[in-house]
Amino acid sequence: SGGGDLDGLRVVVSTGGTREPIDPVRFLGNRSSGRQGAAVALAAAERGADVELVAAHVDDGVLDAAAAHPRVRLTRASSAQELQEAVVTIAGESDVVVMAAAVADYRVAGTSDTKLSKKGDEGLSLDLVQNPDILAGLVEDRVPGQTIVGFAAETAPTEEELLSKGRAKRRRKGVDLLAVNEVGWDKGFESGENLLVFLDARDEEIARSHGSKRRVADALWDAVLTIRGSR
Ligand code: PMT
Repeated sequence: SGGGDLDGLRVVVSTGGTREPIDPVRFLGNRSSGRQGAAVALAAAERGADVELVAAHVDDGVLDAAAAHPRVRLTRASSAQELQEAVVTIAGESDVVVMAAAVADYRVAGTSDTKLSKKGDEGLSLDLVQNPDILAGLVEDRVPGQTIVGFAAETAPTEEELLSKGRAKRRRKGVDLLAVNEVGWDKGFESGENLLVFLDARDEEIARSHGSKRRVADALWDAVLTIRGSR
């Protein structure tokens, strides 16, 4: 017990970007550094929670501080399917699940066991199949009293469009809380700062936070406490 306001809470946090193998040497990936999810995990542990951190691919050193905390247990995963297996295995025992990982919506159909070789001057097409929606599955299997938190990473030219995309995603996924962030070539991914807008289960904006990924992580836990207290 840490004596913080999340004392005794059991939480699962996913972070990083999944990699979907093409062949033994290539993959489809994304630019998630794992910083935001690692900050969410460390903030929870420092506020007293017991944290299961499930990390896909992250930048060097990003997990060090969280992994060194005595209340954080780290599990690694690579593809979306591996991440799902790791998260689902522990989700049933947890009070809050936060999906900050950038999960590939598609994987390569029929991954090759041998390195694909270049053939002539023609282009190459890859067949993709849909990955499971981990968050939707968590919502479907939600245990009583459990809070499911999703992220929405959206490109949007205006704040209005960002929030309307966020609200649509909140409804589609059925989560209790959605942290909406704008992403782009120089926003969201990799950077040290973030802006999060929190939507509750009525699609209402209940808070927003701008600053370091650690600062907005603390705001996320404040928002979780708000919605858990109000139901
Ligand atoms: O890692 P950083 O460099 O610090 O960057 C942080 C971040 C931008 C990656 C992070 O803040 C963020 O937005 N994470 C979610 C990225 C994402 O996959 O967003 P999405 O809008 O595509 O997905 C919506 C939600 O569904 C997310 O909670 C995602 O984890 C989840 N999802 C998505 C696809 C899928 N097949 N299964 C899922 O569970």
